[in-house]
Amino acid sequence: MTDRYAVFGHPIAHSKSPLIHAAFAHQTGEAISYEAILAPLDGFAASMADFIAHGGRGANVTVPFKEEAFRLATTRTPRAALAGAVNTLIFTGSGIAGDNTDGAGLVADLTRNLGVELPGTRILLLGAGGAARGVIGPLLDAGAANIVVANRTVEKALALAALFDNRVGGTGFAEPNAPFDVVINATSASLAGDLPPISRAVFAPRTLAYDMMYGRDTPFLALARECGASTADGLGMLVEQAAEAFFVWRGVRPDTAAVIASLRA
Ligand code: ATR
Repeated sequence: MTDRYAVFGHPIAHSKSPLIHAAFAHQTGEAISYEAILAPLDGFAASMADFIAHGGRGANVTVPFKEEAFRLATTRTPRAALAGAVNTLIFTGSGIAGDNTDGAGLVADLTRNLGVELPGTRILLLGAGGAARGVIGPLLDAGAANIVVANRTVEKALALAALFDNRVGGTGFAEPNAPFDVVINATSASLAGDLPPISRAVFAPRTLAYDMMYGRDTPFLALARECGASTADGLGMLVEQAAEAFFVWRGVRPDTAAVIASLRA
């Protein structure tokens, strides 16, 4: 008997999640199916109810439905509550559990794949939207010493930082002007080919510059490289958040390295 899973989004046609979960299932011998479902912008809940009625066991949720999935969930894990968004749903006999594996995915990519030792690191996080909010708690839990949230709209950076303890501060793009250990681009600027106007001084040779976007070089990564920093795109995070969801659903942790390598090739 095959258990049914899916990712819901809008758009969804280019999602790599079905490919990733098929590879995990093949590798672990778990009998699951995983499809991509285009939910209408005004019909996310109905689309999810239909999936549950037709045997769905769990789902991933992507743009623009993560906040709606948060509201749909009848219980939420602490990391989902902290993120204010849900990317993983688990359907149980008694309700809909909401989780968020994005932050765990970033931490796993940084520590397991990129060799970053997070304890004691100073992190510059660009952006104050949902993508930024989802990773702050997990980065702190993994030992980050402090996180500076820099955003185009400074008030949003301050409001986001205020949700956490004094290890997290908020500011504008212009202020940070000394090197960080890790600089993470969690803005959607790369989508438009834009570069958040940050100082070159935030990059040093020891800095890892990480863009949550994947699939193309971005102005942010190009600048970081020019300044001598090492760089990484978000493909590893994508695969690692999927592996964490797979683990939540199946209790089995897939090997991600082979899947990341095959997606790159
Ligand atoms: P997501 O869920 O991807 O985080 P979001 O919640 O809409 O999406 O947040 C988008 C983030 O990217 C915000 O921090 C936004 O800055 P503002 O809060 O000032 O709007 C940032 N952003 C979007 N386009 C940008 C650009 N061209 N340059 C810099 N920052 C940008």
